[in-house]
Amino acid sequence: MKIRDFKLEVFFGKHEFTAPYLLTQSDCESMSIKDLLSYEEGAEKLFLNNSLGYTEVPGNSELRKVISKLYTTMKPENIIVHAGAQEPIFNFMNVLLAKEDHVICQFPIYQSLYEVANAIGCEISKWTIEQSDNGWVMDVNKLEQLIQPNTKLLVLNSPNNPTGYTLKKEEIEAIAEIARKHEFYIFCDEVYKGVELDGIKRPWFADHYEKAISLGVMSKAYGLAGLRIGWLATRDMNLIDKLIKMKHYTSICSSAPSEFLSIVALKHSDEILNRNVKIIEDNLKLAEDFFEKYPTLFEFNRPMAGSVAFIKMNITMAIEEFCDALVSDKGVLLLPSNIYSFKGQYFRMGFGRKNFAESLSKFEEYLIEKQYV
Ligand SMILES: Cc1ncc(COP(=O)(O)O)c(C=O)c1O
Repeated sequence: MKIRDFKLEVFFGKHEFTAPYLLTQSDCESMSIKDLLSYEEGAEKLFLNNSLGYTEVPGNSELRKVISKLYTTMKPENIIVHAGAQEPIFNFMNVLLAKEDHVICQFPIYQSLYEVANAIGCEISKWTIEQSDNGWVMDVNKLEQLIQPNTKLLVLNSPNNPTGYTLKKEEIEAIAEIARKHEFYIFCDEVYKGVELDGIKRPWFADHYEKAISLGVMSKAYGLAGLRIGWLATRDMNLIDKLIKMKHYTSICSSAPSEFLSIVALKHSDEILNRNVKIIEDNLKLAEDFFEKYPTLFEFNRPMAGSVAFIKMNITMAIEEFCDALVSDKGVLLLPSNIYSFKGQYFRMGFGRKNFAESLSKFEEYLIEKQYV
């Protein structure tokens, strides 16, 4: 397979482990193995005695059980565990799609969610999240206009990276109805689910539609990216069977220590998510005060959920040049919108890290020094 470079990962490869002020990261503040194990009495001893042998291909059965409990209609057999979120995106697209298929993809979005389909040879149509006076919006009528006789799949990411736009329950129901009528699948990347900032918990897509596949992961809302544990949930058992056979060619099974640690984390899901929502909300207050100070330079839309926002910056210089200069002069990392192939002067800011205040003040220092404000 020939596949184009993953722009965001190439960009992070240059800066993520060298820039001191990461103001764009999408994963929440992480923790040590010791801190995670302390959530569950006796877990440390069990962890040290855990076997390092192979585990079941669809995922450790206890882990699949705790994951299935996040949903209202899933059973352990409806879950297949993978390495992070990237492996299941790659495997799912390869299992479902052929080059004659048409795919509709929400946009802007994490690149692999359309790039793998593009590499397979599929035609891709973009369903764009638009900026209105009331923040980001999606028009369900526009989705209907994009449907073709060979539309096989709709790809969504809710809560969305980078905009923070999140589908409401009524939108999920309306989209599922359209998909049912036209008999296409829905792949919903829900890796930022769990850190809702408007107080409204949305249902997982897989609980709403028989041909929907929900993607979940430990990396983002839980802040446990180093575990490299993600999963797919679907009622379509034929698809699960194909995904298991595909996984035989990729990771075979997941890491046993990571599966153990994911079970501990998911048993304490509410505590960990509440900790991370608190970090995001505290940081968002600082961000709102900051953006209110500079209303002509920035247009800020508060995210509905998730840990990131896409912010418009009113400058004449190209946003990618601004971000390059910012990271090389001041060590502050922001992600420019060209990385998402999105037209306009936007950057992504992340609110999940504990050193947000320090990074934001370095950003402000730079704006003052360079006379942007
Ligand atoms: C929307 C989305 N999906 C998938 C991924 C990949 O997640 P992971 O690093 O856990 O594989 C990311 C990572 O940034 C993401 O933002």
